[in-house]
Amino acid sequence: MRSRFAVLFALMVAVLMGNVAQAKVYTKCGLTKELLNNGFERSYVGNWVCLVESESAKNTSKVTDKADRTKSLGLFQINSKDWCKFGSVGGKCQIKCENLIDENIQDDSICARKIQRELGFRAWDGWLRSCYGRRLSIPPC
Ligand SMILES: *[C@@H]1O[C@H](CO)[C@@H](O)[C@H](O)[C@H]1NC(C)=O
Repeated sequence: MRSRFAVLFALMVAVLMGNVAQAKVYTKCGLTKELLNNGFERSYVGNWVCLVESESAKNTSKVTDKADRTKSLGLFQINSKDWCKFGSVGGKCQIKCENLIDENIQDDSICARKIQRELGFRAWDGWLRSCYGRRLSIPPC
């Protein structure tokens, strides 16, 4: 009986920790540091932080259902239509869409920079809306 409770408890802890790990919300400063650690150029980090604030409110697990039945996923709200594939590796970023909503933003970051190289920041409505034309220096930490 006691070991059954132990198993149940361990399971509950695992589920709770899983949820915590799945939905990380960064502070502005935490995000700035994380972007610098993930290979973003210092001179653009102000723009990226603004973009992420506008697109996902810094929430790594944000999912937005779009009218065309695609989804925008994660911190950078990367769209499932072109850039990733559900269920297997694919899209222009060669990643699983599911991996764009976990707390590991390394793959998200590589994909976001690819989108920026190909289409520019104007690929993001949130950037156009909130960041375009502003002088965005790196947030102080
Ligand atoms: C982050 O996004 C997830 C998925 O949409 C949501 O369940 C969660 O409540 C959000 N967290 C915060 C703090 O807004």
